[in-house]
Amino acid sequence: MSLRLGDIAPDFEQDSSEGRIRFHEWLGDSWGVLFSHPADFTPVCTTELGLTSRLKDEFARRGVKVIALSVDPVESHVRWIDDINETQDTVVSFPIIADADRKVSERYDLIHPNANDTLTVRSLFIIDPKKKVRLIITYPASTGRNFNEILRVIDSLQLTDNHKVATPGNWQDGDEVVIVPSLQDEEEIRQRFPRGYRAVKPYLRLTPQPNR
Ligand code: BEZ
Repeated sequence: MSLRLGDIAPDFEQDSSEGRIRFHEWLGDSWGVLFSHPADFTPVCTTELGLTSRLKDEFARRGVKVIALSVDPVESHVRWIDDINETQDTVVSFPIIADADRKVSERYDLIHPNANDTLTVRSLFIIDPKKKVRLIITYPASTGRNFNEILRVIDSLQLTDNHKVATPGNWQDGDEVVIVPSLQDEEEIRQRFPRGYRAVKPYLRLTPQPNR
């Protein structure tokens, strides 16, 4: 059965461009982003890994470790990283898993035979510090992902975990947020949201972003 939100991200041990990785141990207490790409030395993937590398400080600020994956071997990843560094104005400093035996791909359902029976699809998982899967997306091979959107989702998840708020459609950092419906205790609401809230409907309560 494929992986679902709320499941524990499967642990694994696999080779990578930075040596052998034991996934849960490597994650430690951090958040994680695990993302697969179809193949090394392909144009869209090259831009995606370059972009992710240039966002290094943004991921670090949020306590997130990033790791990429394809079925290409370590030697290929290492040669390709040279190309990424050369063309994308960056120095890749996260590991790329070499899933040549497809051990990880099978556990994360990364090969979709009706799309391509050998290459990994363009999937991405956000994993929280308890190792729970909090986001799963799969994009077509021909469409590069928007990594600013990944950062936006991480911000939203961390706001929910830390402040009991959810984020409206198209929310951007600093916009109003919504109080989660399960929070009904008025005393707790007053303490959590000293700037107050406005109830557009009893179930739609908007408040300034608590950490801004
Ligand atoms: C790419 O990364 O450019 C790519 C990979 C597989 C299919 C199409 C594009």
